[in-house]
Amino acid sequence: MWNFHWPRPWSGSSDYYQLNTNNNNDEFEDIASIGKFEWMELCGSGSFSSVYKATWTERNITVAAKKVLSLSQKELDILKTIKNPCIINILGVISQSPDFYIIMEYANGGNLFNYLRKLKGSKLPDDTFYQWSEHATEAVRYLGSINIAHRDIKSPNYLITSARDLKLCDFGTAKVSNEGTSVTSHEKGSSPWMAPEMIRDKLASKKSDVYSLGIVIWELLTGEIPYGQADNQYQIMYLVAEKGERPLIPEDCPQLLRRLILSCWLEDRDSRPTPQLILERIQTKSFGPIRKS
Ligand SMILES: Nc1ncnc2c1ncn2[C@@H]1O[C@H](COP(=O)(O)OP(=O)(O)OP(=O)(O)O)[C@@H](O)[C@H]1O
Ligand SMILES: [Mg+2]
Repeated sequence: MWNFHWPRPWSGSSDYYQLNTNNNNDEFEDIASIGKFEWMELCGSGSFSSVYKATWTERNITVAAKKVLSLSQKELDILKTIKNPCIINILGVISQSPDFYIIMEYANGGNLFNYLRKLKGSKLPDDTFYQWSEHATEAVRYLGSINIAHRDIKSPNYLITSARDLKLCDFGTAKVSNEGTSVTSHEKGSSPWMAPEMIRDKLASKKSDVYSLGIVIWELLTGEIPYGQADNQYQIMYLVAEKGERPLIPEDCPQLLRRLILSCWLEDRDSRPTPQLILERIQTKSFGPIRKS
């Protein structure tokens, strides 16, 4: 598995992550049948999928198996390509119609959205804020570096592993993209994380991923639900796209962090920062202490 541990010394090189991930034991496998798994329990579900905890008997490991309606060659190519310690490791797929499953590493801490709810208003400590912001950003940086827009960056799509690392999952909406690609349908429940151009023009890109990442960093900062007071997702979309509203940043937030989050949410997508720049700010802890005690 990954020979990568947090916290780790900062090497100063953006290749650092890739250097540690070339591991032959992680070969992607085309799995012949679902008979190779012992099913344990349902651990999550989304609009068009169910995710089960299972044992891969041959390998004697616990995995998560996501049942999907179909898997296109394009999706398979993306799943085979992505490899990064801040992204859930895809172990293989079952693509024998009518059974389509994505087999991946199991994250026992659940998703970030649910984790923050359990905090019931108390805030993440500074070191966790910095660590998880770094993980969240690195995942987006890595995808951008191989020209992939995830297009559904949100806290329910970040999972917490047994090592308390944060890892991005859910590549159902990911697309290879240099520029913008059109969004055909909006994922249910993703509106608080959607950039205004996604709402208005149905246009998703690496820069809309940066907007969404800004919302995730805001969640790590506040522990709150973005637009938690809104009546429904249409109200959120109207406020964001037509009225230019954004979540409120607490007054005691360090100024540099405030500016960085606000820059992720700029209307002009080309003026939003690169994930690399966000990562550098986080890694150098340039905001100083987050919570003033
Ligand atoms: N590898 C995993 N380990 C543990 N739990 C997982 C794993 N993958 C997914 N889950 C759980 O299942 C939920 C849904 O997974 P995922 O986001 O991949 O499905 P989805 O159908 O695309 O969901 P949505 O439509 O809501 O985005 C996650 O939020 C998480 O709680
Ligand atoms: Mg999801």
